[in-house]
Amino acid sequence: MKDVIILGIESSCDETSVAVLKNGREVLSNVIDSQIKIHEKFGGVVPEIASRNHVQAISNVTNKALEEAKISFDEIDVVACTYGPGLVGALLVGVSYAKALSFALKKPLVAVNHIEGHIAANYITFKKLKPPFLCLIISGGHTHLVHIKDYTEFEILGKTKDDAIGEAYDKVARVIGLDYPGGPKIDKLAKEGKPTITLPETYFENLDFSFSGIKTAVLNLHHKDPKINKADLCISFEIASTNMLLKNTKKALEKLKVKKLALAGGVSANSYIREQFTKLGKDENIEVYYPEIGLCTDNAAMIASAGFYNYKANKLAKLDLNAVPNLKIGG
Ligand code: KG4
Ligand code: ZN
Repeated sequence: MKDVIILGIESSCDETSVAVLKNGREVLSNVIDSQIKIHEKFGGVVPEIASRNHVQAISNVTNKALEEAKISFDEIDVVACTYGPGLVGALLVGVSYAKALSFALKKPLVAVNHIEGHIAANYITFKKLKPPFLCLIISGGHTHLVHIKDYTEFEILGKTKDDAIGEAYDKVARVIGLDYPGGPKIDKLAKEGKPTITLPETYFENLDFSFSGIKTAVLNLHHKDPKINKADLCISFEIASTNMLLKNTKKALEKLKVKKLALAGGVSANSYIREQFTKLGKDENIEVYYPEIGLCTDNAAMIASAGFYNYKANKLAKLDLNAVPNLKIGG
């Protein structure tokens, strides 16, 4: 088969990213222009500011991605972009740019679901990983347990009823005075703490999650005693929230009778979570996969990889493609 060069674009939140991949798994370039510094002072992403910065960055990021990949516009075979879920104004920048490129280059356009992109990050890190497997997607916007039946066939087994786990991390961090995004800072501080605080864990009959209870419990504790040991609070929060992830994932593995599990999304960079899931893998004889740290948070390489599998399945988009801010997985 002829090599397929795919250009991927990601702009769903606060990262403008463009990547060039060969055959869906080989990264020729993956340029990420993060706006974290800009949004940091607001304690979270400001949608309008995010859109404006995407507009300013997208051409330069694209040129840089092509330059690093040593690829010219003419050599691109497919253009892929995230079309949801995410911030509508931010998504529209990537979608419009991708449509313009596809039209100008006369090359097919592929629309990618951002969550499916997170899953595909594992295909880049593990060249031999193939469906079926179970995937736990844990990010700033999503907490999903998904059965990956095939590259483009998904079944949601459970999801959060309220906050995403990353949202809980970021909120807890903000309250105890750590900068946005708080996840990596909690990860670091937790290593100095002792698990002295018992926090509530929420479970349901099915495989759904809830993180609002634990988040509120942490906020109340800090409110009652602002001098509470922050490191102890961080590790206690990590333990209780990871227990919820572990228990539901174990249930899902038993239900599906699969022996392969992948983690995905920004929160899958967390060192305590990785340690616990590695232990689960050993105890239960399950293969456990995590994307390399740089591919856990938002990037266009994962979008290009997912786009490649949509392209192979002939799932092409038309030039009337629009952003879908609340797009569901498999949608
Ligand atoms: O996947 P992502 O970049 O964006 C979404 O699609 O939502 O995830 C960002 C989230 C943030 O909530 C951030 O705090 C969290 O991932 N995160 C972490 C770590 N690194 C990033 N959370 C816990 N531990 C980390 N090491
Ligand atoms: Zn993401």
